[in-house]
Amino acid sequence: MSLATICLPVQADLKAVEDVLIQHTGSSVGLVTEAAKYVLQNGGKRIRPALLLLTSKLLGYPVTKAADLGAAVEMIHAASLMHDDVLDDAEIRRGKPASNVKWGNQISILVGDFLWCRASEIAISYGNDRILSSITAAVKNTTEGEILEIVRSSDFDINEEDYLRIIELKTAMLFACSCQLGAILAGASKNFEETMKTYGLNIGIAFQLADDVLDYVSNDVNLGKKTGTDLCEGKLTLPIILALKKCSEGEGKILKDALLANTLDAAKLKEIRAILENLGTLQESMNLAKKYVKIAKDALMPFKPSLERDALAAIADYAVSRDK
Ligand code: FPP
Ligand code: MG
Repeated sequence: MSLATICLPVQADLKAVEDVLIQHTGSSVGLVTEAAKYVLQNGGKRIRPALLLLTSKLLGYPVTKAADLGAAVEMIHAASLMHDDVLDDAEIRRGKPASNVKWGNQISILVGDFLWCRASEIAISYGNDRILSSITAAVKNTTEGEILEIVRSSDFDINEEDYLRIIELKTAMLFACSCQLGAILAGASKNFEETMKTYGLNIGIAFQLADDVLDYVSNDVNLGKKTGTDLCEGKLTLPIILALKKCSEGEGKILKDALLANTLDAAKLKEIRAILENLGTLQESMNLAKKYVKIAKDALMPFKPSLERDALAAIADYAVSRDK
């Protein structure tokens, strides 16, 4: 099922999120407006706003008032990608030149900062400290995750636990936050707020695990970004971590050389992909992702059946079945 079909219960509200993204990312500095528009109108999946809206609707909040905050989490996500593309020296994002290619690193970093501030202004306008605390904690964790990933790049001693901590921080915390914000808006009990955080955290982990597999198995056109980037950047993601544990000495040398090389051609990527496929570690990583999907879906069980609960369960499946 497509994400748009899954999100039908909040279709009108997602349209309202789009309106906020257009209306509230302007600046008196023309280039800021141009670059913000470029990254925000560039085919993002809007999965974080969808989680926020579906959670708030599940818990009985008049969802129309949630659109501003939904747009804020998307702005934070866009800001983080602008920064990430600088860190990763990315070439393409969503099928188009990455913002760092179009405007350079300085503008990308600063427009990312602008979007993060704009999102904070929206969060402040709700007059609820818990909203602001949730967002700042998530962004802080995201930053820590990115730093940890850099610290552990090209570190062949990294294990599965270290890797899971990195992806929990850099990706899953913002997913958890999006769900928590929906619950806070709805005035849900602390118990339901924690339940939705658990759901969000687990689909976030599953989402990043799938992302890291797609980095090896997809292609540039389909993914809208360059495949093999993790390997090229020396990032040891789960398929590689598991492979290094059980490969032959010769295969280990090929994997480690590729991680240290700083360049990667199509032939080398094909060779590495074949090693990972042969060792079964791409499949093992997807199997682990599916375990996190199950934890997320189980977390939804205390809620009575509804269109929103079905949609949230379907988003969990989508996180690992998507091809981009
Ligand atoms: C994508 O990872 C990037 C992230 C999950 C988070 C990036 C966060 C920061 C740079 C911290 C700054 C945060 C803010 C809000 C300004 P990836 O490189 O694995 O995925 P990709 O393949 O899509 O690039
Ligand atoms: Mg990246």
